[in-house]
Amino acid sequence: MRAHVAIHLEQWFLDYVRPFINGNAEAEVPRIKRDHCRRVAEDMTGIARDLGLVEDDIHTARILGWLHDIGRFPQYAQYRTLRDDQSVNHGQAGLQVLENAKVLMVCEPADQEIIVAGVGYHNCQTVPDGMAADVRHFVLMIRDADKLDIMQTLYQIWKNDEIRRYPELILELDLEGPVSPCALADIRARRSIAYTNIKSLADFFLTQISWVYDLNFRPSYQRLAQRRLLEQAAEALPQDMAIQAEVAAAVQHVRACM
Ligand SMILES: [Fe+2]
Repeated sequence: MRAHVAIHLEQWFLDYVRPFINGNAEAEVPRIKRDHCRRVAEDMTGIARDLGLVEDDIHTARILGWLHDIGRFPQYAQYRTLRDDQSVNHGQAGLQVLENAKVLMVCEPADQEIIVAGVGYHNCQTVPDGMAADVRHFVLMIRDADKLDIMQTLYQIWKNDEIRRYPELILELDLEGPVSPCALADIRARRSIAYTNIKSLADFFLTQISWVYDLNFRPSYQRLAQRRLLEQAAEALPQDMAIQAEVAAAVQHVRACM
């Protein structure tokens, strides 16, 4: 993607989300989501650079960072929730927004394919087989960059004692409940905890630990380690031996992937 196209799309994104934030009494969640998109765009740029992508592909990566959660804005406006299971799949909702606005007409077909796949598959449990390798590369990048920022954001909210203020951001989960057996089984099998197995806030933080088994690139592991994201998520978890053993295994895994 050429630089001027990227600038156009970035401006389009900011114009699109502005009405969800300005003049809206319940604008806190959309504002947090816009800032999430900005940081993910920055990380996409950094990860793409570290992976040695050419300049045009770095622009594509950045724009995918900006656009990946575009479906969150109409989702929250209409349903007042970020829970896909109680509203719409926000990846698919994002594709609908892009389709209605016809905004991707400004890019080359190859870039359109990347943005569509990235928005549509960023939030799936697993990436389907059969995708062209270059498209898949960007889908895996957005999945990594998204996870890194969710970990940082959730930790900050927990640390600042704002969990009760933003029930939407923690998917309206049970704040006091224990780690669920299904969630523990997933991470013990060294796989990312399935969204359907997340019942409590503890499950949600354990899920973040389990994401170390679902990152795809060395620059992502490096960022996770530099930012101490695992250690931070572990702070929010119950001080239980079985859980701490999984945290230790995850730390080992990250070291091996750097
Ligand atoms: Fe998302």
